[in-house]
Amino acid sequence: MRLTRRGIALPTAMLTRAVLLVMLPEVTSTRFIVGSNMGWTSNVNYTVWARDKHFYVGDLLDLVHDRNQMNVLEVNKTDYEACNSDHPVHDWSTRTGRDVVPLNSDHPILGVVPS
Ligand SMILES: *[C@@H]1O[C@H](CO)[C@@H](O)[C@H](O)[C@H]1NC(C)=O
Ligand SMILES: *[C@@H]1O[C@H](CO)[C@@H](O)[C@H](O)[C@H]1NC(C)=O
Repeated sequence: MRLTRRGIALPTAMLTRAVLLVMLPEVTSTRFIVGSNMGWTSNVNYTVWARDKHFYVGDLLDLVHDRNQMNVLEVNKTDYEACNSDHPVHDWSTRTGRDVVPLNSDHPILGVVPS
């Protein structure tokens, strides 16, 4: 699998950073549709999207995207920075165009164009 849309990785790292700032215990979980009605795509500024939201461990990120254009992979920091999708920590893709990722780790998420 090769990443051909480099730009997608960056906004999510920012989102992950925003998530880390507010990791407090919470009993109820919230489900966020990432990017709201724009979904998970290459031209949304997710820093802006995440700005007024509070994320907690156990919340769910709902990634709505074009299933023919993207897979959703969780990678470690090295691979994220190298934009390398060859060794994902977790492949969240269901190939349905709607993948749900629980917020229970601090790994960045890459949107990857399937080869
Ligand atoms: C997204 O918006 C933030 C805050 O306005 C800005 O600092 C950042 O540069 C923007 N990122 C991109 C990729 O445009
Ligand atoms: C990430 O995974 C790659 C490939 O398995 C490995 O070489 C690298 O050391 C890992 N980095 C971290 C921070 O765990």
